[in-house]
Amino acid sequence: MTTLVIGAGLVGSQVARVLAGQGEKPVLMDTSAQTQAIGQIVPLEDVTMISGDILRPLSVVKAINGHEISGIIHTAANPMLTLGAQTDPYSAINLNIMGTVNVLEAARVTGVRRVVVSSSNVLNHYLAGGNGQTEPMNEEAYPRPTTFYSATKQAIESLGLNYSKWCGVEFAGMRYGAVFGPWSGAGGGGPSNVIRTAMRNLMNGDEATIPAGTMEWVYSKDAGRGTVLALRANDLGTGIFNVTMKQATPPDELAAALRAIFPEGKIRIETPKGTAVSLPNMRRTSDGSISKATIGYEPEFDIRSALADMHAWMKVNG
Ligand SMILES: NC(=O)c1ccc[n+]([C@@H]2O[C@H](COP(=O)([O-])OP(=O)(O)OC[C@H]3O[C@@H](n4cnc5c(N)ncnc54)[C@H](O)[C@@H]3O)[C@@H](O)[C@H]2O)c1
Repeated sequence: MTTLVIGAGLVGSQVARVLAGQGEKPVLMDTSAQTQAIGQIVPLEDVTMISGDILRPLSVVKAINGHEISGIIHTAANPMLTLGAQTDPYSAINLNIMGTVNVLEAARVTGVRRVVVSSSNVLNHYLAGGNGQTEPMNEEAYPRPTTFYSATKQAIESLGLNYSKWCGVEFAGMRYGAVFGPWSGAGGGGPSNVIRTAMRNLMNGDEATIPAGTMEWVYSKDAGRGTVLALRANDLGTGIFNVTMKQATPPDELAAALRAIFPEGKIRIETPKGTAVSLPNMRRTSDGSISKATIGYEPEFDIRSALADMHAWMKVNG
């Protein structure tokens, strides 16, 4: 019995590394796997790579039936996440919502017990409404996502929880903060790539630009570990889990963390055009109590240790 990890990018590769570290040989499914980049995160001999597409439901069923799959972690993503969804909403809606439904349906018909899906803590930030408190008859009672990407994440959380309630497929939705970490391939979202570019520029002696807004980050190793904790947990409780650093990082703190590694580094604080990295209504840090109590998630990396770990990795892997 093994785990099917769908999507082998920034997060999926870390999930595979954690599973392999626990003695499993996970099956990694992707439409266009970046084998070299994956191999820098997890030894390729420790995983089974297969080609498959969540928009083709039978390819998910084939993967499940062909590899005695007992659980699924679905991290497949439309390119550039929020940015990609804003420029091509139809593709993002199709992949994020129908792709996830295909995974849940495949689990339902084949009897896979648990599906863990990457959601996002944009659902804690990109929201309007939600002012109805406990009065459901009020039109403003429920928060409404303000980007296409967060709208798809709200949809998949609701659909997943209904698969859990009505169809017997246990569901967990993982609300990661903005993820950054080791990864040499294409992938991640705007913020992931801002950090990678900033680090690369500083390593080359060039100026780095970091976002002008306060951000809630999570290191990719913690995102992968938290996701596997949800796969293994005895009971999933309410099923939705914040997986972040549990701290909001203002730009000057991010700059200070980078200066701890590059004391002479030139750092400019300015949101790079088109990266959508400033969370517009970020007032508070996501609550971590449910993920701690239910799946035992606590971040191992804060902003300084995460950047130091990523720097060490980039020195070796470029
Ligand atoms: N990166 C972040 O900052 C961040 C933050 C919060 C949530 N998330 C969520 O985490 C998940 C993983 O994000 P990521 O940063 O690892 O993305 P990524 O782009 O690095 O990886 C996604 C992978 O999915 C694959 N894929 C795309 N379409 C597919 C399909 N139809 N079938 C199978 N595979 C397909 C891609 O080839 C890619 O390898 C996504 O759901 C994303 O929304 C990411």
